[in-house]
Amino acid sequence: MSQIPREFIQLLLARTELVNLITNRVQLRKKSNNNYFACCPFHTEKSASFSVSQPKQFYHCFGCGAHGNAIDFLMQYDRLSFPEAIEALAKLTGMEIPHESKVSAKPAISVDMYALLANIAKYYQTELRNSEHAIGYLKKRAITGSVARDFCIGYAPHSWDHLLHTFGKTPALKQQLLATGMLIKKEDGGHYDRFRDRIMFPIHDCRGRVIGFGGRILEKGEPKYLNSPETPLFQKGHELYGLYQALQANRQMKRVLIVEGYMDVIALFQHEITYAVATLGTATSAHHLQLLFRYTSEIIFCFDGDQAGRTAAWRALLVALPLVRDDIQIRFMFLPEGEDPDTLVRKEGKLNFEYRIQNALSLSSFFFQAVSAQSDLSNMDGRARFISMAKKHLDQLPAGILQKMMFEELAKKAHIDAAQLTKPQRIASYRNPAPKARAPSSLRLALTLLVQEPQLADSINEAMPAVALEMPGIELLIELIENIKHYVFPNTGALLEHWRDRKEKKLLEKLAHAEHMVPETGIKNEFLGAITQLKKLIRNQQIKQLLEKAGRGELSSEEKQLLHELIHTKEYP
Ligand code: UTP
Ligand code: MN
Repeated sequence: MSQIPREFIQLLLARTELVNLITNRVQLRKKSNNNYFACCPFHTEKSASFSVSQPKQFYHCFGCGAHGNAIDFLMQYDRLSFPEAIEALAKLTGMEIPHESKVSAKPAISVDMYALLANIAKYYQTELRNSEHAIGYLKKRAITGSVARDFCIGYAPHSWDHLLHTFGKTPALKQQLLATGMLIKKEDGGHYDRFRDRIMFPIHDCRGRVIGFGGRILEKGEPKYLNSPETPLFQKGHELYGLYQALQANRQMKRVLIVEGYMDVIALFQHEITYAVATLGTATSAHHLQLLFRYTSEIIFCFDGDQAGRTAAWRALLVALPLVRDDIQIRFMFLPEGEDPDTLVRKEGKLNFEYRIQNALSLSSFFFQAVSAQSDLSNMDGRARFISMAKKHLDQLPAGILQKMMFEELAKKAHIDAAQLTKPQRIASYRNPAPKARAPSSLRLALTLLVQEPQLADSINEAMPAVALEMPGIELLIELIENIKHYVFPNTGALLEHWRDRKEKKLLEKLAHAEHMVPETGIKNEFLGAITQLKKLIRNQQIKQLLEKAGRGELSSEEKQLLHELIHTKEYP
């Protein structure tokens, strides 16, 4: 894996015009002072609460709270991953992405590897045609020739080195076979085929390239399914089996069904339910869901009806919660015990199975079912437990209509007033970690102004004194000033980018759109005034700390000197 240098990301943001980027997707209206408004693309609304600030290069929706810079916009609106958003912006601005390689550079992906795996998939298909044993197995499982072709199902022959001899003719080729996980290295340095005497399911990425395989044993035995290991081409947490075929079969996908197994996807496809995908022996990840939401607005999880299925469903729900938005749906269906989609669709056919899909539980029904099952609603204690558990999870939902509705539902179920559950959150409060003293308002003002106009940092001549203080937020202010002076962030969006992976990012984002009420012409003065005020507070705290130390007779001679200076220098202007 290579990493994109931070400086490049900053350069990219500097060359991107957020207003243009958004205008190409959402119709913006000019409000004033380079501020634009629109109906929010991230939730349904009639009045325009989505605002885009040209000077800040930052957007914010006052309705649902969506916000960010150009990268965030592409991630949210086009549903791109972070690297994909960077790629898209690079394309737009005509810049080439330089890659820093990490210390433990993994083997590079070459076009050859994709070609190699595609050829191996074809070879397995040929081997299938030559094996009565394998054809017999597929027949026994009632897989038609047509669906076997759609999924390029094949057979790995009963041999330790057939693939090795067919494809590994040179050391370089052997190396590629190893890197793609098709060979296993022996202790004596030799190699052997990973997949032997198995029905082979090629795994495609969403562009149709073969990136790995799953292989099922024909008789009973362990492991039942063997998958390609994680390789540079294949990461289980990112890929979904059957997505490529689903995209091929449907120009638009109204919904996607997530099932557990290869055979489930194939049996459903054969019964014209062509929109099922399977995770590859792993739990569903946020990555999986984000990938799917690029193609559909509804995801239905399909689980076994037993306790294990319910537990897996709850885990999936926890992964999904932070991703839920008003314009997407996530639902849950549970199958009768002892059945999987493969057995069930063969037994009862397409219509009945689709009827089950239509009746899948909504996210909120499943949520309340699961939470109620864990508490006893007949007494006060149980109800309190129920409320606190539900609230903890609902707080994770992005602000929006769904969250509001879920809170209302919770209130109804717990027989309390919804207003008691959702106290409006204070903007820009300093809660991390447990604050000892209320943050002085000059700190909040300085932070807010600085985040909104990073250039203000240049107007500070004297560095802030770096001393241990009981003033939550002051370290952040000092860090901001130093970073802005060092990196020269041209606007809010670029500044926030620098904090992308930091826990302080949330606070900075709130400040980015906080209303500060300072008129445009007075901003610099107000800012410098707040900084002076802070320096005074810091000085007073320092004096107090030193005096306390002096009282205990613990003052060093340097500290005595410092105390003397602090007391006798003139107050800041
Ligand atoms: P199941 O054991 O439920 O098998 O595993 P299945 O899909 O019903 O398969 P058939 O019908 O017996 O052929 C579900 C999924 O879990 C992964 C595979 O992705 C499989 O499709 N799995 C299972 C493994 O990766 N390894 C195993 O040994 C078993
Ligand atoms: Mn099965």
